[in-house]
Amino acid sequence: MTDSVPETAQSAAPNAVTVGVLAEQADGERRVALTPAMISRLARRNVAVVLAPGAGASAGISADEFTAAGATSGDPTTTDVVVCVGPPAASDVERLRPGTVVAGFLAPLSDHDGIERLNQAGVIAFAMESIPRITRAQAMDALSSQANVAGYRAALLAAQHLPRFFPMLTTAAGTVKPAKVLVLGAGVAGLQALATVKRLGAQATGYDVRPEVADQVRSVGAQWLDLGIEAVGDGGYARTLTDEERAEQTRLLSKAITGFDAVITTALVPGRPAPVLVTADAVREMPAGSVVVDLAGETGGNCELTKPGEVITVDGVTICSPSNLAAEMPGDASELYARNIVELLELITDADGQLTLDAADEIIATACVAGRDQLTWPTDDRAPTEQEARR
Ligand code: NAI
Repeated sequence: MTDSVPETAQSAAPNAVTVGVLAEQADGERRVALTPAMISRLARRNVAVVLAPGAGASAGISADEFTAAGATSGDPTTTDVVVCVGPPAASDVERLRPGTVVAGFLAPLSDHDGIERLNQAGVIAFAMESIPRITRAQAMDALSSQANVAGYRAALLAAQHLPRFFPMLTTAAGTVKPAKVLVLGAGVAGLQALATVKRLGAQATGYDVRPEVADQVRSVGAQWLDLGIEAVGDGGYARTLTDEERAEQTRLLSKAITGFDAVITTALVPGRPAPVLVTADAVREMPAGSVVVDLAGETGGNCELTKPGEVITVDGVTICSPSNLAAEMPGDASELYARNIVELLELITDADGQLTLDAADEIIATACVAGRDQLTWPTDDRAPTEQEARR
């Protein structure tokens, strides 16, 4: 096994774009934006891939595997399209040529400096979290693919911290009752957490403010906790609750929570701080040994006592709030993310591997968070409609 991918010529075909894969900079980020299987798929479009030295190693992918797929080692910032998982480091952005396409989780709603830096560099940037959740874009939905990983890992974390078995056990030394686990927020992560809790043999119960997810909760074998509060907002997402609704939710949830051994929280409202669902008082009412796994720590936490990135104990209750759970399972998380990235790359290139940044395409227009003026309008002799121009 060699340590690095050999340096060779980059372009496989004269007209095809080249794609660069950045080495991730954030602490604990072990994922990589492209995997060997997806590099081979790009090669079928004559798209050559340049990998930063060391990229992918922390996901458990060797340099040999990248080389076998056709990638070369070099400076990814010299390519036409640069892909990453987290936002690129300022030192990488500085080196990008104007007109370079960048794709990754760019945190457009929170990292305003990062987006400004991309605009200043004159690049065209696509945020994976801004890809619209329409049927045509499902294969590019990196929020979902990574939330699935996070939900699975959250269930494992709850099982690991609980001082009891998850499944029912009948042994010569006696019978052990199954653990009871409540999942608050039944979006993609929550449903995967429920399904995993169920597979591990515990009793699973799900709760959400979007009533339409009740059937999805039941379909993974979990029970539905109905508190009678509905809060559906734009685009099918939850909206922020009114003060009255929030007070009622807190009262009812605080009562319900004490009946569970573990609570996994995944509730988010896009662009807003996470709603507090587990108050400090509710934690103090939980039996000692109970566990709270809070996936919303990065946006303030669903539990009032959460310390993002830490595991703490309050009155015997363990509260953990991992900051980047998907990165803790970097193999499959990278495979899924790389597929999302390649689906996007296939949308913005033609069969010969040339860029086609069509501003009239809803996915391209919505996901573009920097350099929008560089998108191209179809040459049909018509000016963009007001709505298209606004996108
Ligand atoms: P999310 O990560 O934004 O939020 C997680 C969950 O928390 C959501 O189910 C939300 O309803 C819930 N929540 C928010 N505030 C709450 C509160 N105060 N109390 C209890 N629960 C609360 O959601 P995620 O997983 O990203 O997906 C949510 C939306 O996206 C849904 O409408 C889903 O159907 C849609 N979606 C569409 C896809 C597609 O069509 N391609 C793919 C994936 C999701």
